[in-house]
Amino acid sequence: MNHFLEIAQLSRGDIEQLLQQALLFKKTQHYPQYHGSILANLFFESSTRTRVSFELAAKRLGMDVINLDLATSSQNKGETLEDTVKTLSAMGIGLFAVRHRENGLPDRLAKSLPDVHIINAGDGTHAHPSQAMLDLMTIVEKKPRIADLKIVIVGDIRHSRVANSLLHVFKLMEVAHVMLVAPPNWSGEKQIYGDSTSSLAEGLEDADVVIVLRVQHERLSVDEQIDLFMYQQQYRVTQERLSRARPDVVVMHPGPVNRDIEIASDVVDSVQSLILTQVHNGVLMRMAILDAFLRSEQL
Ligand code: CP
Repeated sequence: MNHFLEIAQLSRGDIEQLLQQALLFKKTQHYPQYHGSILANLFFESSTRTRVSFELAAKRLGMDVINLDLATSSQNKGETLEDTVKTLSAMGIGLFAVRHRENGLPDRLAKSLPDVHIINAGDGTHAHPSQAMLDLMTIVEKKPRIADLKIVIVGDIRHSRVANSLLHVFKLMEVAHVMLVAPPNWSGEKQIYGDSTSSLAEGLEDADVVIVLRVQHERLSVDEQIDLFMYQQQYRVTQERLSRARPDVVVMHPGPVNRDIEIASDVVDSVQSLILTQVHNGVLMRMAILDAFLRSEQL
């Protein structure tokens, strides 16, 4: 693998290979060691899960990890991001996990710096491919016949890089029924797969998997803001509302969770919740992603 930028650049075969590798790592707890290879985490937006799991994944594979502290880096002195990456590359770092609020920035870096390898760790509202892959792993572990499922995504579809990447995964995996539930001003502008509704009750009917999205205040312009009280009244995923879904429904959330805003606190902690399994699987899937870079080449 040269870069890991968005699901749309992967084939179904690529996805299945990453999935099988992550599941194998989980089952065997036997990991190849890539001593001498280095991952740099360049996170220009806040993160707990993605940053720490890339770090843990790299360490389990015997790599060294640099977490660049952007608050004290030479970015503050006017250095461009391209020059920062070139500088770190000259020190022998070959792999960069990049999170940025600007859509397409990891892609831009990959195009302008052909000698380094870029992993998109979430860019603006565009893509979060490693999250979509760990979500796929979590679903398949519980419900292996993914093509037979009804999967519902609830929330701010329009600004969600997670939903965007998930739709590409679900399309490639030919999920039987994908349903997007959002209030009208948060519905997707370009929906590449599935159906949509503004009715949570309709969306949850017979659902096998419910993925709840975070209300992302930081990405909303003034005219996109929503009345939070209305949102909670109409769209918060509660136990009562989940009774419309299948009895063995599972509930997921990419995190961080706003308890009692988009999802009721007791649902977060319920037996149906796979939220911590997603976090656990995130390390294993990111190991599979790093392994795909390193298996064929010393970086
Ligand atoms: N899901 C996710 O990207 O979480 P973090 O922002 O904590 O990395």
